Amino acid sequence: MSRNFAQELIEEIKARVSIREVVADYLTLGKAGANWKALCPFHREKTPSFMVHEGKGIFHCFGCGESGNIFTFLMKMEGASFPEAVEKLAKRAGVELPRDDRGQKNQEPDEHYLLYRVNELAQKFYQAQLFSPEGVTALEYLRKRGLSRAELERLGLGYAPAGWENLIRHLEGRGLSSKLALEAGLIVPRESGDGHYDRFRDRVMFPIHDLMGRVRGFGGRVMDDSLPKYINSPETPIYKKGEMLYGLDLAKEAIRKKDRAIIVEGYFDRISLDLYGFKEAVASLGTAFTEAQARVIGRYSRNIYLIFDADEAGRKASFRALPIFLPAGLLPYLVLMPEGNDPDDLVRKAGAEALESLIASAPRLLDYFLETQIHAAGTDLAQKAAQVRELTQTVALIPMGLERELYLKKLSELSGISLSRLERTILRERIPERQPGRQEAPEKTAFNRLGSEELILVCLVNNPIPELARLMLEQKVPEKVSDSALAQYLLSLSGEIAQKGAGDPVNFFHLLNGSRWEGLAGRALSERSPYAGDQIFEVVKDAIAELDKRKVSEKDSELNQRLSAAKNEGNQELVLELLSEKNRLIQLKRKPTVNRAG
Ligand code: GTP
Ligand code: MN
Repeated sequence: MSRNFAQELIEEIKARVSIREVVADYLTLGKAGANWKALCPFHREKTPSFMVHEGKGIFHCFGCGESGNIFTFLMKMEGASFPEAVEKLAKRAGVELPRDDRGQKNQEPDEHYLLYRVNELAQKFYQAQLFSPEGVTALEYLRKRGLSRAELERLGLGYAPAGWENLIRHLEGRGLSSKLALEAGLIVPRESGDGHYDRFRDRVMFPIHDLMGRVRGFGGRVMDDSLPKYINSPETPIYKKGEMLYGLDLAKEAIRKKDRAIIVEGYFDRISLDLYGFKEAVASLGTAFTEAQARVIGRYSRNIYLIFDADEAGRKASFRALPIFLPAGLLPYLVLMPEGNDPDDLVRKAGAEALESLIASAPRLLDYFLETQIHAAGTDLAQKAAQVRELTQTVALIPMGLERELYLKKLSELSGISLSRLERTILRERIPERQPGRQEAPEKTAFNRLGSEELILVCLVNNPIPELARLMLEQKVPEKVSDSALAQYLLSLSGEIAQKGAGDPVNFFHLLNGSRWEGLAGRALSERSPYAGDQIFEVVKDAIAELDKRKVSEKDSELNQRLSAAKNEGNQELVLELLSEKNRLIQLKRKPTVNRAG
């Protein structure tokens, strides 16, 4: 099996599967600040130094230096090959692998095929009911809320009729067992223990589609003020609320094109925004936003607008989004709705422009958070110290890089506490204490003693920015390094960043699996970056110059050998040719290839 997987597939899987959950299948994890720790499975230890960074999708052992992503974790734990690890995790993520032509996949139909099928039948049934005489009230209700027949059909909305066994009978008539409908959450067992009844009755039905357009679950709304307002599908093998977003299937193109995503709370908000031209809107599914959802949305755009109510509860809820988004490297914007309005009300009453202008002036959630919290602390010094400590930890959730530096600086300005003091606060919390007398692993050299290739890797991994990626490619760094795994990694990662404007270093970790580079890359992502700002470019350019120098001196000694051989043979012609080549080399040595000034 030597299948080549598309990088998108790797990304998709990595975005959907939490490394914490994968690791937790094998190890007992304890909380360590924003991360998780365990006893390292790759070396013997009594105190945990194996860290799992959920947001970054990596593990790293500060004891033995072992590092990797979800794929290489399985490879190391189970001795699996890369394709095996991909297959296993794809299954877990519910991501379909491209079938290869040998067709071996076709023999085992998707184990959830029947669940999708029963959902599809239910959706068709509800939709037909909406346009039948049974559905007049529901249709009228939806019309009043601004939905035309064409829109209703496009969105797949429906109506679950009143009565206890409509759907059950419909499915039975098509040969689908109640066991299946039960597993899909469409029906509920009777308390008497014999038979079932329909979960959704006399409700407007919203099908919830996945990215491939398959129905995974439903939300059902009453048409009056009775409670509960919504009933939703329970969690099922194909419906995990924390991993899905309502409307993402319809929104994903617009999110890419407009390069922004709007996240609202309600089904109706999502629908109204769509009707008013905000096709890039998605809704969370009535539960708190999760990291899995943040990662999924972050793949389509990094400009995320969270819409919340302007009241105290809304602002508090928005702050809870910080530990979800920041570790994924996302800095969402906060849009606060005018009091008493949800996005649906706002666009209907004040039009699309009203929302557009709120979006245009939206602050970043983190800026808003830091500013309001510092104010809230007041003048009590002890309270302020506690507050600053907490805010520092929030900023520390941002993966290492320029953004984090800048936010720390902002916090330093807001609080009047020096930047270096804040940095020390972060360090203390994040890196486990060294045990006295424990043997230092070989790769634990200080960053400033690293060689050129190591420095280049550390800098790129910590700063996956287009400027640096372009420098790598323009300077042909992958061709200049001595190791093919490292070359492949630098080439793939830089290529992705240069092409797409961003790339996650962790998504390419499997290219380093088993090499001496992976521990270094993992450690770089787990520790504080030794360089910041322009310093990074200085360091990388110096390192590239070193590589060039090394190439030149290798070439030089090779030329010298050939020259003396040619002289011995008395091959005058070759001697002249080699001499002129040597001259060119000397020119090269004088003139550094990398422009140090810019
Ligand atoms: P409208 O009142 O019709 O405008 O609904 P909405 O879509 O704007 O919903 P709302 O803002 O009231 O609630 C936001 C989301 O929370 C809904 O879309 C549901 O997913 C969820 N939700 C609201 N009410 C309930 C409820 O009673 N039970 C459950 N389980 N979820 C609810
Ligand atoms: Mn609403």
